[in-house]
Order: sequence, then C-alpha cells, then structure tokens
Amino acid sequence: MKKLRSQEWYGRQDRDGFLYRSWMKNQGWPHDLFDGRPVIGICNTWSELTPCNAHFRELAEFVKRGVWEAGGFPLEFPVMSLGETQLRPTAMFFRNLASMDVEESIRGNPMDGVVLLMGCDKTTPSLLMGAASCDLPTIGLSGGPMLNGKFHGKDLGSGTGLWQLTDEVRAGKMKLEEFFEAESCMHRSKGHCMTMGTASTMASMVEALGMSLPGNAAIPAVDARRNTLAQLTGRRIVQMVKDDLCMSKILTREAFENAILTNAAIGGSTNAVIHLIAIAGRIRVPLNLTDFDKLGSPLPCLVNIQPSGRYLMEDFFYAGGLPAVLRELGEANLLRRNALTVNGQPIWKNVAEAPCWNRDLIHRFAEPFKPHAGIAVLRGNLAPDGAVIKPSAASPQLLQHRGRAVVFETIEQFHSRINDEALDIDESCVMILKNCGPRGYPGMAEVGNMMLPPKLLRKGVTDMVRISDARMSGTAYGTVVLHVCPEAAMGGPLALVHSGDMITLDVPNRLLQLEVNEETLNRRRSEWRPAPIPERGWQKLYAEHVMQADKGADLDFLVGRSGARVARDSH
Ligand code: FES
Repeated sequence: MKKLRSQEWYGRQDRDGFLYRSWMKNQGWPHDLFDGRPVIGICNTWSELTPCNAHFRELAEFVKRGVWEAGGFPLEFPVMSLGETQLRPTAMFFRNLASMDVEESIRGNPMDGVVLLMGCDKTTPSLLMGAASCDLPTIGLSGGPMLNGKFHGKDLGSGTGLWQLTDEVRAGKMKLEEFFEAESCMHRSKGHCMTMGTASTMASMVEALGMSLPGNAAIPAVDARRNTLAQLTGRRIVQMVKDDLCMSKILTREAFENAILTNAAIGGSTNAVIHLIAIAGRIRVPLNLTDFDKLGSPLPCLVNIQPSGRYLMEDFFYAGGLPAVLRELGEANLLRRNALTVNGQPIWKNVAEAPCWNRDLIHRFAEPFKPHAGIAVLRGNLAPDGAVIKPSAASPQLLQHRGRAVVFETIEQFHSRINDEALDIDESCVMILKNCGPRGYPGMAEVGNMMLPPKLLRKGVTDMVRISDARMSGTAYGTVVLHVCPEAAMGGPLALVHSGDMITLDVPNRLLQLEVNEETLNRRRSEWRPAPIPERGWQKLYAEHVMQADKGADLDFLVGRSGARVARDSH
C-alpha cells in the first residue's frame, strides 16, 4: 500500500506532527490511531432542517462500526445540508455552494477515503460533485426512503399525493380538514421521499453509477438492513483506500451511460439530467443532453412507481429493488456490464442473479410497464439549446399539441392570476412561465408543473401543456416542458413569448416552436432588458457564474477536478 495522504499530517516527527496529532487527542484518541491506518472521513449532511437526513448521526455510527472493524480510523464531519422543503428560494440555489464546502472540506483535511451520507434531493449531487473534484476513494450511502404514506386506507406518496390532494381541494372535491389530516399521514417515518422523486432517483443513480454497494437505492430508512448496509459501507471504504480505488475509476463514461439507462427504466426525475451532467463535468466525462435522448428515450419504463405508476419505494425494495431492474437492462444487452463498482466488481457481477418478487412492480424488459420512458430533449426556436420533457409522466394525447400561449412573466404573476375566474384560458392553451431558470429565480425552482386554473379543474381537466425554464419536482407529473435553454433571464427566446402567440409542441419529432416571425421576434428582443445582478454575497457570485441547465447549472469555474493535494502546512 502506498503511503497514505493522512500521514502527511499524522506521520510527521516534527513540530507540525505534534500540532496535527495533539489537538485531535483532546477527543481521547490514543496515539496508535495515528500510526498510518486509513483515515476515513464520513461526510454528513445531518440537519434537523433537512428532515429527510435527520437520522444520519445514527446512520454514521453504523458506518464507523464498519470502518473500525476493517482497521480504519473514522472521523465524521458536517457539510452544508440542503433541505428541499425548508430552504428558500430553493435548495437548488445552494447545490453548488454545498459542493464547494464538500470539496474544500475533503481536500483540506487529513483523510484517505470518504463516505458520503446523502438523502434529500440536492444532498446527493452536491456531495458527489464536491467529492469528484477531489477524486479520493469515495463511497456513497443513501439514507433510504420513508415507509409508504397511508391515508384513508390507501397509499399516499410524498409530493405526488400532495399535488393530487391540492387539485382535489381546488376542484371542490375535498374538504380542508381532510387535506390537513393527510399532512401527518404522508410522512410518518424517517427517510427521504418515498416516491420515485428526485431523492429516490438520485439514490438509484448512485447505485447505477457504481458509487454505492448494491441495494443502496431502495432499503427503507427504518429497515435494519439500511444500518447493515452502512456498516458494510464502512468496511468497504477501508479496502478501497488500500486498493487506491478512487472516484475517477468508477465514474467512467460507461457508468454515466448506465445511469441514463437506469433513469429511463425507473421513470426517474428530470432533475437527474442536470445533476448527472454536473457530476460528469467535475470528473471530466463528456456528457450532454443528446446522450439522454439517444440512450434513454428508446427504452421502456419498467418500474410501476409514483409519479409514473402506483407503487412506492418501500414496495420497490420488497420487489427486489434496483438490482432487479439492472438485471433486466443487462439481459436486454443494454447495461454496460463491465463498468466497475465500489465493491471492486463489474456491475453485471453484482446483479446477474438479482431476483424479482413482484412483476406488477418491476416489469420484464419484454413486457414493460410503459412503452416509452426516458427524457425527450426538445429543440426549436423556443429552445435553441434544448428543453426536456418526461413522456412517461405526460398525457399521451398532449405530446403533439398546438395552442395559444398564456404567459406569466414571473412566479408571483402566476400566483396572482391563476385563480382569477376571468383569466382568458381554456384547456387547449399552453401555459408559459418565465424567469424561473438558474439565473432568473435564482436557483431554477421546482415550479414548472404549474397548477391548473380552478375553473378548468372543475370541468374535469387534469392536464395541460406547460412550458418554462424552471425545474419540476421528481414527484410531479403532467405534460410539462422544463429547463428551456437559454432561460428567459438570459434573454432566451422564452423571454420574447407574448400571450396569444401560437406554440407547437411535437415530442415525437422533438420540436418546440414559437410561431412568431423573425421580424417580430427581433423587435421584441431589442426591447428586452436584463434584471440587475445582485450586489453582494453568494447571490452575486452565483448570478455571475451559473451556467445554463444544459450544462448542468454548475458554476463555470467549478467544472473539472483539482485532486486532493495541498502542499502547505497550516502553521
Ligand atoms: Fe427531502 Fe423529498 S423533500 S427527499
């Protein structure tokens, strides 16, 4: 085994070695722990303000057990934690900031390997991005989904159930008392959202990328086997350090292709597009929007989970979890079988015998749950750099649609007008929301699945074409075109749409077209004015450097990796 990086701190027989060791000894660590054994950082996103990760201190104890068992020295450290439901203006605004915290915390401290504790939506990509820029041996561990929500004798899914119940209240079909009763029924155990929202999607991406031990995606947070997985993860990272199995050996182009294929097969979140592109950018693997369409769109959806289907993550675990899905992809000769995973095995070796216990939930490739899955990438004069839609969550009859635009310039304007009975809108219209992109919101909030007007809900309308530069919660559904690039706040064509313009959406032909002539568009362009850049702090740094959604919405100066070496001592 080569000399470990932690020994540049603890292996010194000089004043600096004294300094590095002595202050650590105030925690009671005996001198022999600094003898050259692997030091494992446990990067913890625990926070009471991130309810989905609130059990992570307990989970970290199981990781430590495994690290001790394998002869390592575990040291837990906190990083910025992003609670999807609590943070304003949106957790995504802080993903890149958290990734900088992770990167610098890993690089600056004496650790040889890292365990990433991830759960709530943005905590997964921010940790993977930051760690990838350091490229130490690293293993992921997700916190696990909550148990199924239960309400009035039925399953109730995180987010998805909320959007459904909200529509029922707005359509006058549910009383407010019942609505608020559901609040305590939806989230009744520790863990993250138990639909195939962004958290479960990203936990699946971690497993499909080979960045976790098999089974990571689906074991419920409260199942004892989640703690077992944590302990095994702790054992494994020590060996990964000894084998120098760093992140760049796992996160290859093949690994990202497996993630894209998997995202299609599970009916995963559109947010995975942005996060995977950002993670790939850090580790320097070329990945773009076209890869998602080319690899994912021909695939069927295999998994019957909300929001595309009816089951929840707890059921998915009992049905066999992600290994059963990966096996289907492997047997269909799609999985990049030789992609290396953190347990040192190619991914196919991990899943070739994976059982499935419920074919109504995990379908065979030959008998899919839905024939079309993946992310379709649309282009046209309304989205020259692309926009995305998730066909499996859309209404088939709306995938080719021409309609009159009803424009909302901001999210505030949308909220103030959508309940107005006098709003000039019918079910054939196309709802347009501007200024909700990476720069515009700021942070590209999950507001793209705009609520429908109550007067149409009362008529029984359940879906309409909606277009924006925003994102959408992975738990949401509908014929919703998202991530329009360039965004309105950067002067993209979306900024030039007026109410009354005709718009064509043609998903089979990948087209998103604004039917306004060039001369009119040029005149509108010359009248458009950008919003001022904020004057200070993170808002300013973010606004000046955030890239568009098709580039992963990372900051331009964070792309790439600088490794983990720090030459200078602290004193
Ligand atoms: Fe945390 Fe959904 S709000 S995972």
